[in-house]
Amino acid sequence: MARVCVIGAGYVGLVTGAGLAELGHTVVLLETNASRLEALRLHQLPIHEPGLDELVERYAVRGRLTFSGSYSETIPEAEFIFIAVNTPTGPDGEANTTYVSAAVASVMKYARPKQVLVTKSTVPVGTGDLLSVVVSDAGFHDIEVVSNPEFLREGTAVQDFLTPDRIVVGAGSRAAAARVARLYSSLNAPVVVCSRRSAELAKYAANALLATRISFMNEMSAICEAVDADIEQVASVVGFDRRIGAGYLSAGLGWGGSCFPKDLRALSVTAKQHGIEPAMLDATVAVNARQRDRVYRRLCEAVGPVNGTAPTVAVLGLAFKPNTDDVRESPAIDIVRRLVESGIRVRAHDPVATGNARAILPDIDYCAEPYEAVANTDGIFLATEWDEYRQLDWPRIRELMRGRVIVDSRNALDGPRLEKLGFRYLSVGRRSHAAEQRDLMLHLESVPAGGL
Ligand code: NAD
Ligand code: UGA
Repeated sequence: MARVCVIGAGYVGLVTGAGLAELGHTVVLLETNASRLEALRLHQLPIHEPGLDELVERYAVRGRLTFSGSYSETIPEAEFIFIAVNTPTGPDGEANTTYVSAAVASVMKYARPKQVLVTKSTVPVGTGDLLSVVVSDAGFHDIEVVSNPEFLREGTAVQDFLTPDRIVVGAGSRAAAARVARLYSSLNAPVVVCSRRSAELAKYAANALLATRISFMNEMSAICEAVDADIEQVASVVGFDRRIGAGYLSAGLGWGGSCFPKDLRALSVTAKQHGIEPAMLDATVAVNARQRDRVYRRLCEAVGPVNGTAPTVAVLGLAFKPNTDDVRESPAIDIVRRLVESGIRVRAHDPVATGNARAILPDIDYCAEPYEAVANTDGIFLATEWDEYRQLDWPRIRELMRGRVIVDSRNALDGPRLEKLGFRYLSVGRRSHAAEQRDLMLHLESVPAGGL
């Protein structure tokens, strides 16, 4: 079992640290943000990630997962140093790698021979090569830099880390690749050993392809509306094709979050730096923006001005997706901002993300309960498909609201039922008579002998 230092206790660093402890290693999480560190030392998580608190608590209590703010105390002891710091968008769309460089510069002050430096952060192609130069300039010719990109999703991060589809190890030598791969040997997952540059690019390619699928389906959703078809049915049919698969086909408000937007921008910059016009990436981004505009316009047209005055809208969901408190580049936050800018009053609810949302948009009404948020509003905009919104008491909501409009930007609610309750239900890629169409949708294992 190895001694590992993970630098950066954010969404990826915390899951990586706790996950490696679960795999039997002894891990120190090195975090320079004082308030984060203080909370972690009290075993309080600075983020919401299902299942992570139990994992952190389990290994922190056993002493296999510790927290530190000191490079001098942690780096000399480690065999593997994982870089999991943030790589946000820079001024021209490129990935800002200054946090990575700063972390590596600090590591070099206390490094020891034969350590392995592993990049978990998503970094542009060639970053590993640049770090190798930094390492050898510091006099360490036997410290290898290995790329080990992370593919976890927020909201399911623990499960994703512990049951990955693949483990990618991009290294300059078979020996370094083997050392990193061995850290994961108790996981039953395929290991792809490749060049460091391929590993770095594959991370961006995976995110870009997933975003492209979503944009493609969002474009299909507009076509569905025009030709009177239903995007949910189209997605189901397409997804049954094993060559295509059923994931990432949900049309709606489009993609956001801390990674897809920044990673597509960064990959686009990389392409342009090499004289390649990233036509697919540009289209993926443009369709995403257009979809958000389309859904926003739908909301504004549906709620309209009420008796000549601006309406009030309840926004349900602020996180960029369910089961996280992350609001970075959240489509929901963008919609709220637009509503506020056009003079519409917003009452917002999210099960866990209001604290982070408030830091960005301090001046809207945040409500502790969805029922409080919908009271006396003219319309509801469901922006994030939290499960609890599916379970709401809709007859009660009808009584609490002033208007009847529901715009379900994630196709998450039971439209036919809401229509029966007297709501004006609008969704994405589905006509209002979609209820009848959906009744015709059957999934059978095979064609029954007696007919349908
Ligand atoms: P984050 O912002 O949640 O966490 C980064 C942490 O690093 C912060 O706590 C910050 O204080 C700390 N930090 C920054 N500089 C430091 C330094 N020099 N020393 C010690 N700590 C330092 O970021 P994140 O969402 O965890 O993403 C980290 C990286 O992983 C990014 O490159 C991202 O693209 C990639 N990634 C993220 C996800 C995800 O779902 N969030 C998934 C896969 C890959
Ligand atoms: C994404 C990738 O899925 C991870 O593999 C990757 O590790 C991570 O980015 C990263 O590099 O940070 P994440 O951003 O946590 O993970 O969340 P996703 O579940 O992929 O959702 C991203 C966005 O796409 C969300 O806004 C979500 O609402 C949207 N989405 C997703 C759709 O609109 N339709 C879908 O069918 C799926």
